Amino acid sequence: MAKVAVVTGGSSGIGQPLSLMLARDGYDLLLLNRGAARSAPLLKTIRGTRPDIRADVIETDLMDHASIRRAAAAVAERAPAVAVLVNNAGVLTRQQRLSPQGHDSHFQVNTLAPYLLMNLLRPLLAAAGRSRVLNTGSSAMSEPFVGPLKVDELSRPRRMDILGAYAQSKLALAVIGEEVAPDFARDEIIVRTACPGANRTTMTREGDGMPWILQALVPLLFAPPEKGVATLHHALAGADLGERTGIYLEKRKVKALPAKVRDPDLRARLMSLMQAQADA
Ligand SMILES: NC(=O)c1ccc[n+]([C@@H]2O[C@H](COP(=O)([O-])OP(=O)(O)OC[C@H]3O[C@@H](n4cnc5c(N)ncnc54)[C@H](OP(=O)(O)O)[C@@H]3O)[C@@H](O)[C@H]2O)c1
Repeated sequence: MAKVAVVTGGSSGIGQPLSLMLARDGYDLLLLNRGAARSAPLLKTIRGTRPDIRADVIETDLMDHASIRRAAAAVAERAPAVAVLVNNAGVLTRQQRLSPQGHDSHFQVNTLAPYLLMNLLRPLLAAAGRSRVLNTGSSAMSEPFVGPLKVDELSRPRRMDILGAYAQSKLALAVIGEEVAPDFARDEIIVRTACPGANRTTMTREGDGMPWILQALVPLLFAPPEKGVATLHHALAGADLGERTGIYLEKRKVKALPAKVRDPDLRARLMSLMQAQADA
């Protein structure tokens, strides 16, 4: 049986060619996407390219914990082990949209859903042996877009500043990657976070969360999604990275997280927020 990769956000943007690349690498794919219809073109391409691998969609709404838990259970029904988990789905919007559990969509989809999936799928990741988790981060978490990590406001930002809630959610995701890595290493699971760079996707071309001046420059300055895929693929499997875990990458280089997130108390508060949600 082929190794299994679980991917979120495979229905558009960077996630589509990323899924195709994993199929080319020989992984069977379980795609946690919102709509079967939206995934149909990708499935057709994958099956045309690699008819020997299995690719299935498990309908999942990452805004809803119940849906995430159902998806993890469905993965367990179909696969005894998961070699790769890519938490690639992401949200960037100016609106405050709340999940059924009352979380802003940035925190829910960009931070909490990856954390829940990592933990729910951990037994399957452990069963695969030397498995990998890749969380798609964003350099938007760097200055000037984001100030200090506001743990108390992650779930419900007081203001929807441009890129603010997005940057906070991605900064939290990168810290979480560093924090969980030593424990996941006990099960030989490597955890990494990587920014794919600036890519022309639905989020950047059409989304309402981009600063308008930057959006005008997307056709000129942003790369096609295939560039982001190559960057993420390197973060997942680059030979130069060996077995390094808990790292954050930008432009294919390991980069230290901002000094502002070194405070152990801040990290402890973040991890207890995450744990409380995982237990809820
Ligand atoms: N593009 C860039 O320049 C850039 C830069 C840095 C980081 N990133 C990150 O790269 C990742 C991919 O983004 P993209 O640029 O490819 O954007 P995109 O084309 O908008 O793709 C976003 C993906 O997330 C999925 N998603 C959003 N909410 C979901 C939900 N509630 N349940 C299930 N799936 C959901 C979308 O599914 P639907 O098709 O159902 O909407 C879509 O597949 C994101 O994590 C993003 O933050 C992108």
